Amino acid sequence: MLARCSLSLFLLALVTSLAPLCSAADIDQEGLPDTGLNTSTWITGQLPSLDDIWDLNDIQIAAKNVLRPRYYASYRTAALDEITYQANLNIWSQIRLNGYSFRNVSDINTRTEILGYNFTMPFFIAPAAQAGHANRSAELSLASAAGKAGILYVPSISSTKSIEEIAAAGLSNQTMFHQEYIWSNQSRVSDELQRMEQAGFKAIFLTVDNTGVNGIRTRSLRYTGAQDETGHDASFDLNSLAGFRNLTTLPIVPKGIKTWQDAKTCLDLGFPAIYVSNHGGRVLDTAPTAVEVLLDIRKNAPEVFDKMEVYADGGVRRGTDVIKLLALGARAVGLGRTPMFANIWGEEGVTHMIQLLSTELQTSMQLMGANDVSQINSTYINTKLVESMWLQ
Ligand SMILES: Cc1cc2nc3c(=O)[nH]c(=O)nc-3n(C[C@H](O)[C@H](O)[C@H](O)COP(=O)(O)O)c2cc1C
Ligand SMILES: *[C@@H]1O[C@H](CO)[C@@H](O)[C@H](O)[C@H]1NC(C)=O
Ligand SMILES: *[C@@H]1O[C@H](CO)[C@@H](O)[C@H](O)[C@H]1NC(C)=O
Ligand SMILES: *[C@@H]1O[C@H](CO)[C@@H](O)[C@H](O)[C@H]1NC(C)=O
Ligand SMILES: *[C@@H]1O[C@H](CO)[C@@H](O)[C@H](O)[C@H]1NC(C)=O
Ligand SMILES: *[C@@H]1O[C@H](CO)[C@@H](O)[C@H](O)[C@H]1NC(C)=O
Ligand SMILES: *[C@@H]1O[C@H](CO)[C@@H](O)[C@H](O)[C@H]1NC(C)=O
Ligand SMILES: *[C@@H]1O[C@H](CO)[C@@H](O)[C@H](O)[C@H]1NC(C)=O
Ligand SMILES: *[C@@H]1O[C@H](CO)[C@@H](O)[C@H](O)[C@H]1NC(C)=O
Repeated sequence: MLARCSLSLFLLALVTSLAPLCSAADIDQEGLPDTGLNTSTWITGQLPSLDDIWDLNDIQIAAKNVLRPRYYASYRTAALDEITYQANLNIWSQIRLNGYSFRNVSDINTRTEILGYNFTMPFFIAPAAQAGHANRSAELSLASAAGKAGILYVPSISSTKSIEEIAAAGLSNQTMFHQEYIWSNQSRVSDELQRMEQAGFKAIFLTVDNTGVNGIRTRSLRYTGAQDETGHDASFDLNSLAGFRNLTTLPIVPKGIKTWQDAKTCLDLGFPAIYVSNHGGRVLDTAPTAVEVLLDIRKNAPEVFDKMEVYADGGVRRGTDVIKLLALGARAVGLGRTPMFANIWGEEGVTHMIQLLSTELQTSMQLMGANDVSQINSTYINTKLVESMWLQ
């Protein structure tokens, strides 16, 4: 599955004057922040050492070095001109963090309850299809790394491994939720929800932002050709949403909320939580970032934050990004692409990613005088710039 170079390197050693297939890696870093990553010792197609990996952007560049271009594209791609994808990455530079001095920060607590279950961190591994493109262990290493770190993992229904295989990879003290799509085949939906419940998953993230179709993701279409039918139900409406709760006893969390009006609707329908997301920019291009949607909810339906849990994702690469979403009212924050990229090293890579982000989160909390994630409120951020540009 991965581009492999060891054999060609061996041949190269024999036939020394060949233009090397596996040369020192010269990788286009896609305008990601320049933190001095030097890939000149990396070999194209080979897994770099984790010792070279200092942040989540490094992980993306390593994945770009290792994965076959079509698989890198399948993870990296987003819809149309990828304006929302870029906005997700760039919004953070438009928010300032306020740090308080004179606080005792000798004991930092990041433990977070999500739907009443205890986790060590307020960030989680979001559902993302086909982890098997990065590593044969696929979702199993994501489940196991999440379990050991005590964070939430929410596998996709479009995973490489089955619902039952992923459940079996979990630790005995581990809580996982599962994502589901709204298939037009309703018996498939009810079958899968039953299997998830049976296998021990504790909640369902129901993705509501791509009913009927997916976004047009040119970067990956160039490899795959025209997209197959999604099998998603296009006639899904408010009544069908309400009806979903009759199919399982597990709590259902609508994923892909992009407007304050839909957030309010979910509250009125009695859902325990919502998940604000633009699907990593992979569905409606030019849709707002989670930052903007959370600000809109705060202004137009603030009761949402008091009465239900709110999760959010999109472009989270730094501990400070996590903090900004928490300060805007999110209880927990998802990561989509980065865990998939980290899986090029299998479980060890995913564990390294979780550790890097945990350290950034804890360090930033100390630097801003917040010793518990539950203290992080809107006084820690300045969002005036974003509000002046985008608030509805
Ligand atoms: C490769 C890939 C596959 C995804 N598959 C799913 C999926 O099956 N179901 C779903 O609800 N969201 C899916 N998403 C969206 C993620 O759950 C998440 O919302 C998004 O990736 C967050 O943005 P980030 O990648 O910038 O962290 C996928 C995202 C990626 C990158
Ligand atoms: C990157 O590392 C190589 C090998 O150590 C070195 O020759 C080169 O100058 C470095 N490049 C930069 C920009 O630091
Ligand atoms: C600071 O907090 C730590 C951990 O809660 C506590 O043990 C310590 O006594 C505190 N220090 C002061 C000076 O209050
Ligand atoms: C969560 O952990 C806290 C201690 O950090 C404990 O008091 C509480 O009972 C735990 N809750 C659950 C649901 O396990
Ligand atoms: C579950 O146990 C493992 C050790 O086996 C630990 O590392 C992890 O943090 C625990 N999970 C939670 C949610 O505390
Ligand atoms: C619908 O889903 C059920 C249950 O998964 C499956 O047995 C059946 O073959 C599916 N029907 C079609 C038309 O795909
Ligand atoms: C769900 O089930 C309840 C009773 O179990 C019923 O009153 C309600 O009409 C059902 N809702 C839908 C949308 O099917
Ligand atoms: C997958 O991850 C394992 C470690 O879990 C690693 O040894 C291996 O090289 C990775 N790559 C493949 C192709 O499985
Ligand atoms: C928000 O946090 C700050 C800093 O810890 C605190 O002083 C303030 O009372 C909090 N405000 C609200 C409304 O909770």
